[in-house]
Amino acid sequence: MTNPAEYRQRREQLMAKIGKGTAVFRSAPTVVMHNDVEYAYRQDSDFFYLTGFNETSAVAVLAPHHEEHKFVLFVQPRDPEKETWHGYRAGVEGAKELYGADEAFPINELDEKLPKYLEKADRIYYHLGRDRNFNETLLKHWQRLMATYPKHGTGPTAIEDSNLILHPMRLVKSENELALMRKAANISVEAHNHAMQFAKPGRYEYEIQAEIEHIFRLQGGNGPAYPSIVAAGKNSCILHYIENNQQLQDGDLLLIDAGCAYGYYNADITRTFPISGKFTPEQKIIYELVLSAQLAAIEQVKPGNAYSKVHETAVRIIVEGLMDLGMLCGDIEEIIKEEKYKPFYMHRTGHWLGLDVHDAGVYQWGENPQLLQPGQVLTVEPGIYIGPEIKPVEGQPEVDAKWRGIGIRIEDDVLVTGDGHEVLTAGVPKSVELLTVNG
Ligand code: GLY
Ligand code: MN
Ligand code: MN
Repeated sequence: MTNPAEYRQRREQLMAKIGKGTAVFRSAPTVVMHNDVEYAYRQDSDFFYLTGFNETSAVAVLAPHHEEHKFVLFVQPRDPEKETWHGYRAGVEGAKELYGADEAFPINELDEKLPKYLEKADRIYYHLGRDRNFNETLLKHWQRLMATYPKHGTGPTAIEDSNLILHPMRLVKSENELALMRKAANISVEAHNHAMQFAKPGRYEYEIQAEIEHIFRLQGGNGPAYPSIVAAGKNSCILHYIENNQQLQDGDLLLIDAGCAYGYYNADITRTFPISGKFTPEQKIIYELVLSAQLAAIEQVKPGNAYSKVHETAVRIIVEGLMDLGMLCGDIEEIIKEEKYKPFYMHRTGHWLGLDVHDAGVYQWGENPQLLQPGQVLTVEPGIYIGPEIKPVEGQPEVDAKWRGIGIRIEDDVLVTGDGHEVLTAGVPKSVELLTVNG
């Protein structure tokens, strides 16, 4: 686990950037499954990144200009009866002793105490999130402070999105964070390798899912980082297929997109392989095309390269390949510019990875590129999906029946290093040879 000093260092780094401002962060709400049955609690990633505190109904305030209370936590107070139902709480004392708050209050004192930390700030840093009630609370306090602004000419005159300051920090991972990400990756690698051995004709997609998720928990992971996709045959052409209830057939491909969460950090791996250990000629052609796009895209992962180059590289290779196969025709630049390849490849080639599966961070700064830098982690996940009812864009050829029903994605988690990259999930085979039984 990340040690308290690292959370403190993150808060200090953020406070150095906000000067005379005050930053406010809200914990994630509990999520109800049905009636009063709750999902397992998952803290908001920004909140967790700054505090390590994983209880609900909490507010963190960072006020660097305050003389004594630079880090304040509002939390649920200890309550043995409620804790019997919902779990142990750190309480007001624990917020200070265990989580390093300079001051802590029960959450029901927020309205009374929060203005003290806002009134001397020149602005408020806050992300207007999904918790509309809390947005309202914050706006109410801001409005009150602005109402008295003419009297003394001090107070927060703007709200700025805290994401703009915090997310560039989250984008570059520390050694401690990388250790957790490697662990999540290694567990996920083990699960995928086991799934490849376990899959065979006659088994059901959910059996594979169960084996994978068994390993996630058995190895100390929190569970799946996102709903596991185990998609055989034409199900692989559905990007968010999670029913996982069909039987595996001889001759089909199996697409597995599954990754575990470990210590709040995530892995995200996709492999596609022949269930019986042998590609059909068409499957092999499309597979090799996706693999070549993925390998070339991964080669673009190095410091100083534009993030967008990873996607552009994959798209160009996929388009060239589909043109060679007669599934796209015309001028390659026009096909790329007008995205005529989208019926086959409709998603981006990856995303940042970290505390969130689709992690915090900007991908493009208007006309200017986001440049890759050491410590960033991204997925590289091109695919080709030739659905049974695929409709090419106007003017493009109909797709021959022999290709239909083939869906392939290959996804790895890639760390930008000082001089290139490291594939954190390289332990799951992806070459045609290794996925083919008996060579
Ligand atoms: N499994 C989610 C994703 O690949 O983005
Ligand atoms: Mn992904
Ligand atoms: Mn994925």
